[in-house]
Amino acid sequence: KRAIIIDTDPGQDDAIALLLALASDELDVLGVTAVAGNVPLALTEKNARKICELAGKPDTRVFAGAERPLMRKLVTAEYVHGKTGLDGPDLPEPTMALEDQFAPDFIIEAIRDRPEGTVTLCPLGPLTNIALALIKAPDIAARIDRIVLMGGGFFEGGNVTPTAEFNIYVDPEAAHTVFTSGVPIVMAPLDVTHKALTTQARIDALRAKRTPVCDAAASLIDFFERFDEDKYGTDGGPLHDPCVIAYLLKPELFTGRDCHVAIETGSELTLGMTVIDWWGVTGKAPNAHVLGDIDAAGFFDLITERLARL
Ligand code: BDR
Ligand code: CA
Repeated sequence: KRAIIIDTDPGQDDAIALLLALASDELDVLGVTAVAGNVPLALTEKNARKICELAGKPDTRVFAGAERPLMRKLVTAEYVHGKTGLDGPDLPEPTMALEDQFAPDFIIEAIRDRPEGTVTLCPLGPLTNIALALIKAPDIAARIDRIVLMGGGFFEGGNVTPTAEFNIYVDPEAAHTVFTSGVPIVMAPLDVTHKALTTQARIDALRAKRTPVCDAAASLIDFFERFDEDKYGTDGGPLHDPCVIAYLLKPELFTGRDCHVAIETGSELTLGMTVIDWWGVTGKAPNAHVLGDIDAAGFFDLITERLARL
């Protein structure tokens, strides 16, 4: 089993990613660490617990982390995810407890406690918690197997500004810390997630499983996709964050290449841009494996099959 920590700001697509991970025997979810992002921390940590309970896994350890980015004011995305961050289905208030430990401290401890190279970090939101852990305990960098994250964009540009994707834009300094940490990174940018569209046929396939979890997941997607459908005129919206978990389970669904990636932290105009050297023009050594394409049908089959197990 691969040991993972999911760092997240649920978020409907984060919720599907959590469900996919919790449904998969290949993964040992050591903990779920919540960060402020799509909505404030008080909601993301609660939403994370709601999803663990929906999955029937109330023993999952959930931790609260950073309330705001390292150096900037928090920017949220209620216009995408709704007021609660999890608008869509009517999920009960969680009864499982939140762990006392601060999320970055849990991340540090979990990595130090386990053999070197055995813990994978899966950030699905702004990178504040991960950066705080790396800043407080630089020794963990060499011990992390790798960081597989959703964030950034290249040919697709951005979704918050013309050049910046939400997760990187919210905390560009944290992203810079992560991308210069030396930890191997796999990055699922908008270029790949915008190819994973929640078409009506795919939502129907999920609902056809007729389980409470698949039903709730379909309702989450129904709510989530309206934003991108309206904006881009597509059939379905991009299911971003589950790409991270799908990559761990079935890397063969994706293609990509090793690139040098730098984060813009100085310019007001292009703040949070992921400068991806796809063509190798800088001659700088790659620091990330950047995913570029996905077998979307295989991806949705995987989600449907796994969520039906819960
Ligand atoms: C990312 O931003 C959030 O709104 C989603 O949950 C995803 O992690 C996409 O830009
Ligand atoms: Ca997210």
